[in-house]
Parts: sequence; C-alpha cells; structure tokens
Amino acid sequence: MKILIMNGSPHRGNTWRLTQRVKEMIHAWDETVEFSEVHLMDVNLPFCTGCSNCFRRGHQYCPHHEKVQLILDLIEDNDAVIFSVSCFQGHLTGIMKNLTDHLAFLIHRPRFFHKKAMVISTTGGVSANSTTKSLAGTIAGWGFNKSYQLPIVALSWNAYVPTERDLQKAENVASKFYLDVKSNRMHAPPVWVLIPFNLFQAMCRPTGDAHEFPTEDHNFWHRYAGMQYAPGVPLPLYKRLLGKFIYFIGKHIGKRMIITYKKQS
Ligand SMILES: Cc1cc2nc3c(=O)[nH]c(=O)nc-3n(C[C@H](O)[C@H](O)[C@H](O)COP(=O)(O)O)c2cc1C
Repeated sequence: MKILIMNGSPHRGNTWRLTQRVKEMIHAWDETVEFSEVHLMDVNLPFCTGCSNCFRRGHQYCPHHEKVQLILDLIEDNDAVIFSVSCFQGHLTGIMKNLTDHLAFLIHRPRFFHKKAMVISTTGGVSANSTTKSLAGTIAGWGFNKSYQLPIVALSWNAYVPTERDLQKAENVASKFYLDVKSNRMHAPPVWVLIPFNLFQAMCRPTGDAHEFPTEDHNFWHRYAGMQYAPGVPLPLYKRLLGKFIYFIGKHIGKRMIITYKKQS
C-alpha cells in the first residue's frame, strides 16, 4: 500500500506533528505501507492566474503545468493521500487553496476514482471541521472515492502536543482509513457527485476542435459514454436512475447553452 502525505501548511507545525503521529500509527499496524511526502511550500506553485486554459484547452496548457503535473502524478502513483492542512481564517491555508484552484478543472474532468483520503487539520479554537469538510468536498469532486476527516482543536499556536484524547480520536479515524484502503472496497459516490459527472458529460458536444470555442471536456467524456459513474465504482439502482435523469436534464440544457469559457478580449 502506498500513501502520499501532502503537507498543505506553509510550515511543519501543529498539524504536521499530529500527521506524523498518524503516520506512526499506520506504520505500527502495517510496516509494509510505503509513505512518501510532498510539501507544497517546496513545490513553490505560483498563484492560479485564472486564465482558464485548463478548462478550455487542457491542463497541459496551464502556465504552471510542470508543477501541477507533478502533484497529479504523485496522487496517481499512490493508493491514498493524507492531506495535512492548518486551519487559517476558518478555511484552508493559502497554498492549499492555490492548489485546489489549479485543480478546479477536475470537477469537469474527474479522475482518482479509486483513491481514498484522510484529511487532517488543527485549529487554535474553531473551524478545523469546516477546513477538513471543505477539502473533503473538493476532492470528492476530483473523483476521490472516500475521505476520512480528522479535525482537532489544538488550543495552541505553535506548541501543540497531542493529548491522549486527540490521539484516541486520531487512532479511530486512522484505523478506519487504513482498513478501508487495505480492503480495496469501493464506495458508491454521494448523490451530489453524480451531478457534475452526468451534467458535464451530457452538455458536451462531440464536435471537439471543430467547435468555435472548444473545451477539453468535449474530448474527455466519450470514454464514459453511457455510464452514470466511473467503472469499478458500485452504484445502486436509484443512483443509476438519478444519474440518467441528470444526464437527461444536461442534454436539454446543452441544446440551449454551450459552455465556451469565451474570454473578453
Ligand atoms: C494565519 C492564521 C490564521 C488562523 N486562523 C485561525 C482561525 O480562523 N480560527 C482558529 O481557531 N485558529 C486560527 N489560527 C490558529 C491555528 O489554526 C492553530 O494554531 C493551528 O493549530 C495551526 O496549525 P499549524 O501549526 O499546523 O499551522 C490561525 C493561525 C494563523 C497563523
């Protein structure tokens, strides 16, 4: 089992220390787990410029493509990811938000359907849970199959030492995460995830580059033609029917509205 640990904080502080304890727990349960780390501060990803090239032409046209691709490849190369991110202003850190901006195109063209995640955040007093919830929601849109959240109130700025209670909570969440990754079991996606999957698929036109304002979505969705979600992920009958319904609505909307990302000159 390969697990990537992504440090989405600008330093190695309270959240990183807790993340290290989680790593030690998993390693104690299974010493064959291979961990690797990426520290977003070291990647030095410039801010997303909002050029929309990723949406329109493909993410390989992002001005920061090399760095974005590095992160995509790291996620792809692992079975699961532990995201470690401090709570800043009740939300993600700036560098983590910047990464999610660069990967926003994934809601249109999702992948990572067989990956699982654990999202860890510590806060001084409040909002660690809104931080983990926000990132867990974002990565569900990227395709991640399941996330486990560990929000912790550290009551500290720089000197947090995990309490017995916090460690117990960490152990509970980490064991669920570890056992789930080990099982290779796939979970049915939440209903809201079926909306972009089926809507964007339906709104695509098979005209590709012939279109006046092409979007990469047009070239992407044919591989899932007729599917309500990605292969290998179970979908109960009611979600299949719901997916078909969303697709039907998308086809209807697509007749009147073309997604172009046309820019003002
Ligand atoms: C820029 C900044 C913003 C913060 N915002 C909040 C906040 O909104 N709510 C809160 O309770 N604590 C806040 N804190 C405190 C941190 O969430 C807390 O110390 C956390 O454990 C820091 O984790 P880290 O050491 O991994 O960065 C903030 C700290 C910083 C530096």
